[in-house]
Parts: sequence; structure tokens; C-alpha cells
Amino acid sequence: MAEAIIVYETRSGNTELIAGAIEAGLKEAGVEVKRKKASFAKADDLKDVDAVVLGSPTYVRNLVAAMKTFLFELDKVDLKGKVGAAFGSYGWSGESVAILTETMKNLAEMDVIEPGLKIKRRPTAKGLEEAREYGRKIANKILEAEK
Ligand SMILES: Cc1cc2nc3c(=O)[nH]c(=O)nc-3n(C[C@H](O)[C@H](O)[C@H](O)COP(=O)(O)O)c2cc1C
Repeated sequence: MAEAIIVYETRSGNTELIAGAIEAGLKEAGVEVKRKKASFAKADDLKDVDAVVLGSPTYVRNLVAAMKTFLFELDKVDLKGKVGAAFGSYGWSGESVAILTETMKNLAEMDVIEPGLKIKRRPTAKGLEEAREYGRKIANKILEAEK
């Protein structure tokens, strides 16, 4: 069975809501999902998965610190060619999704889905549906890559 890991960080819960909806979309499409906060995730968690999905809100135009620290774990495993995707809640500029996308592409040489998913503030029902749809999109990309 295809497997994905969602590693995310949040301060006020908005990015966590997006993570939950992406997880639901992946599962609907038949993908097994592990979900961890960035401060608890390690390189070993990334070894046997088909896709790595990273989420961080934007604070002062940057990632939250725990996610920045976690990115060093990407450098300890071979993720070349694996499916990647990025998401995050934001208020006005939303740099974190581009930073996560850029790091997965350049550091880990992953096959990253673009654009990533940016949702303003707390996701509404429409935003959560968009996130579920994004989960299904990631699942399709994994299943395509397996063919
Ligand atoms: C101190 C502070 C700084 C912030 N800086 C930014 C920023 O630079 N760009 C932006 O798009 N949003 C910024 N925001 C808004 C947050 O990204 C937004 O509230 C987001 O929904 C928080 O997600 P979370 O609940 O997952 O932590 C900032 C919020 C706070 C409190």
C-alpha cells in the first residue's frame, strides 16, 4: 500500500486543520498516512514513505522554528524522485509554502507538486474541502509514479 507522511507545525492550530483535511483526502484515495509534528519527526520516519508532505504557517515571513530545524532531517536520507508537497496557513504574504517547496526541490531533489496549498488564516469549510482535494491530488501523483 502506498504511504505518505505529513510533517507540520502550527502555533494557533490553522495549519493543523489543513493537515487533517489533507490526511483525509489521501486516505480517501487509498494512501496510508503517518502524521507528525515537526519537533517529533526524524529522518527515519521518511525512509519508507512514497510521499513527504510538509506544512508550516508563515511567521515574520518565514517558517516556524521547529520546521526549519526539521528540514535538516531531509538531508540525512535519500529522497530523490519521491513525491513532495507543501502547505500552510498564512495572513498576508505566505512565504512558508514557497520555502518548503524550494527546499524539497533543491536540497532533496524531490518531485514536488506545484503550486503548494496556501490557505488564509483559519480554513473555512471551503478551505478544508480544498485541502481534502489537495490530498487526493497528492495520492494521484503517488499512484501515477508507481505505475
Ligand atoms: C507575530 C506574527 C507574525 C506573522 N507574520 C506573518 C507573515 O510574515 N506573513 C504572513 O503571511 N502571515 C503572518 N502571520 C499570520 C499567520 O501566518 C496566520 O495567523 C496563520 O493562520 C497562523 O497559522 P497557524 O495557526 O498554523 O500557526 C503572522 C502572525 C503573527 C502572530
